[in-house]
Amino acid sequence: MAEIRVENLRKAFGDFIAVKDQSFTIPDGSFFCLLGPSGCGKTTTLRMIAGLELPTSGRILLGGEDVAFKRASERDIAFVFQLFALYPHMNVRRNIGFPLVCQNVPWAEIKTRVEETAKLLRIDHLLDKSVSGLAGGDRQRVALGRAIVRRPLAFLMDEPLGTLDTEFRDLMCEELRHLHDRIKATTVYVTHDQLEAMSMADHIAIMNSGRVEQLGTPQEIYDRPATMFVADFVGSPSMNLIPVGDRLAKGAKTLAVSGASIAIPEMREDAPAEEIVLGARPEHIRFDDASAYRGEVFGTEYLGTMQIVTVKVPQGRVKVKVPASLHVKSGEQVGLTFLGDRLSLFDKGSGRVIRSALHDAQASGGM
Ligand SMILES: Nc1ncnc2c1ncn2[C@@H]1O[C@H](COP(=O)(O)OP(=O)(O)OP(=O)(O)O)[C@@H](O)[C@H]1O
Ligand SMILES: [Mg+2]
Repeated sequence: MAEIRVENLRKAFGDFIAVKDQSFTIPDGSFFCLLGPSGCGKTTTLRMIAGLELPTSGRILLGGEDVAFKRASERDIAFVFQLFALYPHMNVRRNIGFPLVCQNVPWAEIKTRVEETAKLLRIDHLLDKSVSGLAGGDRQRVALGRAIVRRPLAFLMDEPLGTLDTEFRDLMCEELRHLHDRIKATTVYVTHDQLEAMSMADHIAIMNSGRVEQLGTPQEIYDRPATMFVADFVGSPSMNLIPVGDRLAKGAKTLAVSGASIAIPEMREDAPAEEIVLGARPEHIRFDDASAYRGEVFGTEYLGTMQIVTVKVPQGRVKVKVPASLHVKSGEQVGLTFLGDRLSLFDKGSGRVIRSALHDAQASGGM
């Protein structure tokens, strides 16, 4: 297994720069997700790591060795495009063993490794069955088996679950994660689906327009988004971003918004921004009749035990996540309070975070 390090990696297609001088490290044995919207450069980054695309500039280190200009076949990496791509005329055993046949591995060793792999994936009872008769989940396991059997230094996966229906996707997410916990191979997994990334990854790199906007654990990214883009992209519904206009000076502990005073994490410096945006996750807002920050209920969406209530406020709309047992009606006037120790403040101009209540927790956590 190996660490993967990308240094100042750039890819230009003519005048268009798809990946903009990115640097990041994928720790040995970690499950790492590249997450971002369509066209942000995820596949291009992954293809450069795999050796399927030449970088315009920059370095790619696999286990400390610079492989940027080595061919894909010379890198010890398995690339899983689509887990369903199997050879239909071969049985399970031959599908899994195929990469070893290509590497001229002796037959006896192929047999042992294929059987070990099948056992790991719990498909050893299917080894002599034809793949065309298999159920979806088993086909997927065979395709995974074909990647694992090589025991590569790393696995690269590009939206491997993209075509599956939701229920099956959830199941495969769980299986991929369990498999990773057993074999501990460095895995780079590309997805535009934040739920997939949040549920599987040890580390996530959020990409936007060819750049990594933030790299962190799912919890760091959720609790302390580095930019408004990340705040908006992660979370369902996403973080409320409320433009509040005010300038903030060092020592400020409150923000004046529409005649109300909202408690915020104390400012340690003057805010560099002219315009401030308040970031609040839906679960960090409460209904409070006593609050001077008021709005009108626009609609509700039931989620079983919880509900998402949309409230029209002077700055736009705010989503609030509260227990479903709380009775609210459309058109009703409500007061809102914010949990001050969970808020983030952003600079509207740069989009970057100025202050996040949980920065304090980060500082004391020694990170
Ligand atoms: N061979 C190419 N020639 C020109 N432009 C390209 C080429 N490959 C990718 N691009 C452009 O580079 C940008 C990044 O593409 P990429 O496929 O890496 O995005 P992505 O994040 O994987 O998106 P998706 O989620 O849609 O798969 C896109 O704007 C795309 O149009
Ligand atoms: Mg892609």
